[in-house]
Amino acid sequence: MLIRMISDIHSNLQALEAVLTDPPGKEADRTFCLGDIVGYGADPSMCIERVRSECEIVVLGNHDAGVAERVPLDRFNKEGATAIRWTRSVLIQNEKDWLSQLPYYTEYEDFFLCHSYPADPESWTYVLRRNHALESMSVRQGYISLIGHTHLPGCWMEDGNYTEASKGDFSKVRIVNVGSVGQPRDRDSRAAYLLIDTEARTWEHRRVEYSIDDAAARIRDAALPSVLWERLYVGF
Ligand SMILES: [Fe+2]
Repeated sequence: MLIRMISDIHSNLQALEAVLTDPPGKEADRTFCLGDIVGYGADPSMCIERVRSECEIVVLGNHDAGVAERVPLDRFNKEGATAIRWTRSVLIQNEKDWLSQLPYYTEYEDFFLCHSYPADPESWTYVLRRNHALESMSVRQGYISLIGHTHLPGCWMEDGNYTEASKGDFSKVRIVNVGSVGQPRDRDSRAAYLLIDTEARTWEHRRVEYSIDDAAARIRDAALPSVLWERLYVGF
């Protein structure tokens, strides 16, 4: 089975639609979402609607939790908090209620799915260092963890080493960061997601072109901080 693992959409509808039609010429069987559906971008309602209809599994991201008032705004930077306040003002109650009920983590076969830190998903810790990767492997023994949150696609191997390889298998990989659909930060402005083949036990970091101009125009029209659309062009 081919499964798209998407994360950190951040209300970027143009990037989300591009990812949902990738890979070209092949039909993915399922799509799972690792959180941060909203925040930063200008199409939160449409992104929620698309994720609700397309994704069989969805876990909570910290920006979703911020909008749902499960995380205080002082945990976000200035632009992030501004976007969360704006998002709260444009969502209807049913959309906020749906975000609010999302789980911190879930499991699918031998995959552990959460937004940020497999060792303690509620802490919103960033897995950027070897010690956090090794602690996560220790707490989630027997699982391959799939995460987002840093917006940086990459993999942690069982020995604690990190690789930015674009494809591989799950024999020694224990944590995969799937990257960000709507706000990549690895200096590649294309939308990122992970495609996995559960029978072949392989994974591939995919990159997809989308209309950054259209996503940026939506953010400008919403009068959100300019850094939120400017950074889409540089992927950082
Ligand atoms: Fe995020």
